[in-house]
Amino acid sequence: MTDPQTTLPAGKMPQLRVMPMPADANVHGDVFGGWIMAQVDIAGALPAVRRANGRVATVAVNSFVFKQPVFVGDLLSFYAEVVKVGNTSITVNVEVYAERNRLQVETVKVTEATLTYVATGEDRKPRQLPPLES
Ligand SMILES: CC(C)(COP(=O)(O)OP(=O)(O)OC[C@H]1O[C@@H](n2cnc3c(N)ncnc32)[C@H](O)[C@@H]1OP(=O)(O)O)[C@@H](O)C(=O)NCCC(=O)NCCS
Repeated sequence: MTDPQTTLPAGKMPQLRVMPMPADANVHGDVFGGWIMAQVDIAGALPAVRRANGRVATVAVNSFVFKQPVFVGDLLSFYAEVVKVGNTSITVNVEVYAERNRLQVETVKVTEATLTYVATGEDRKPRQLPPLES
């Protein structure tokens, strides 16, 4: 289903902003889904690392929806927030918005995903999450 959006989410800071280049396009000239997935993984890991206070590994991509195509030159904003924590795991929701048309900005929600990260130690094994700082 399309999800038109006229502005970026108010009162929130994106974790990441990036502009895809021609090298990130698929054979049809639109942006390759795998490139977007990599950026989503990077953006989602940022709040997870903060919550884990250390290294994390991506254990699962729970859902991933490409709602609208992404074009070379779009300015992408990745919003990520922790939606669930367990003993060692942190689940993060990531929303991606594209601002296109430099002169008359049109904002479109292009992607939504949920990923789970696991806090790991130096041995790469799961590590108990630290308590929340008060
Ligand atoms: C992440 C990793 C360290 C977890 O080790 P593990 O022995 O499988 O961990 P466990 O089974 O003890 O599960 C750890 C946590 O992950 C959660 N988890 C495991 N599989 C999951 C899945 N498919 N979906 C959601 N959560 C999952 C568990 O519920 C558990 O959460 P909790 O501690 O909060 O209850 C290990 O699977 C690994 O190294 N995977 C490769 C990671 C990687 O390289 N990622 C980059 C992409 S290649």
